[in-house]
Amino acid sequence: MRPTYLMESAPGALTIINGKEFIYFGGTSYFELHNNKEVINAAAEALKKYGINSSSSRTSYGTTPLLVQVEKEAAEFFDCEDAVYLASGFLSDIAAVQAFINMNLFDVIFIDEISHYSNNYAAKLSCKISHKFSHADPIDLEKKIKKNLKPRERPLIISDGIFPIPGKIAPLPDYLKIAEIYNGILWVDDAHAFGVIGENGRGTAEHYNLKSEQLYSGGTMSKALGGFGGIIPGRKEFIEEIKQSQTQYGSTPPPSSAAAASLTGMRILKANPQMRIKLWENAVRLKNGLKKLGIDVDDTNVPIASFSLSSYEKMRRLHEKLMEKNILIQLINYVGAGESGSLRIVVFSTHTAEQIDHLIFELGKHL
Ligand SMILES: Cc1ncc(COP(=O)(O)O)c(C=O)c1O
Repeated sequence: MRPTYLMESAPGALTIINGKEFIYFGGTSYFELHNNKEVINAAAEALKKYGINSSSSRTSYGTTPLLVQVEKEAAEFFDCEDAVYLASGFLSDIAAVQAFINMNLFDVIFIDEISHYSNNYAAKLSCKISHKFSHADPIDLEKKIKKNLKPRERPLIISDGIFPIPGKIAPLPDYLKIAEIYNGILWVDDAHAFGVIGENGRGTAEHYNLKSEQLYSGGTMSKALGGFGGIIPGRKEFIEEIKQSQTQYGSTPPPSSAAAASLTGMRILKANPQMRIKLWENAVRLKNGLKKLGIDVDDTNVPIASFSLSSYEKMRRLHEKLMEKNILIQLINYVGAGESGSLRIVVFSTHTAEQIDHLIFELGKHL
């Protein structure tokens, strides 16, 4: 039986779980914006003004000024024509793939074998034929396309931008070239990349300096951006397709308090690029420390690092030893974590160098 953890504070470098304060490396609030006073005050004001939610869909009377504003400023943040704000990042993938169907943009799906659950749901719900390709492997992708795509059929390539467990950045330039050769499109779930990578925090496409009409991406406000809900920035026609879809007229939108938090989080990140630089520095400090312990991690500035030991029991014991020292990392069973699971460490921009070094020191004692 998995232990039950109760989070009894906002997530941050210090987080209270089951009544105890931990140095917390277990979440995705990459800039601790969910615990930021300005963000919380904006959400509280919106809650007082607009109530719990509009209790009506966007296509009826449920659009509040904050929902409109969050979309307008998300379009600016991501340098796109428009954006749509949804109830969750999970829903973003489903809504996007349904829009591609309505716009008749593809015939067959090719999806990374460890792409997130939400991308897999999106593929399944599309009722289209779907093939998996080896993780982050453009050669295998092209092999699968050559084998399975019939003449005149167009592929939809689906991947995460940053994979939540390995923290690997997908090779989007290669995927995009393949999408172009086969007259298809590329969909990227950028839940862990929005706000985190790219010069302006615009995610994986900006990280690679890619712009293309065949490249689409979406993500979440619930991680780096400090708010809550899904977000898809993009060209007008695509965004309008989603805004007119069943995901909008058959569903209550996110609360205005969540919109206010997301809006404030985005504004803070936009005005303070040094926060992203601090996050990248922390990511490098963590990875250098892990390398010194002999743990194989990549050299990117992604603030996620995962590794496995030879058995689940060994990982469970290490996790427990760290907890005894008030350090919390994740022992996780998740897509991409392998059969026995992984130990996953995430740094925030708000972790101090001492907290990261302390983690490395304690890890080294108990590995
Ligand atoms: C890659 C990825 N996509 C989508 C989601 C879902 O986003 P949300 O929590 O906003 O539903 C997550 C995690 O929560 C994720 O890791």
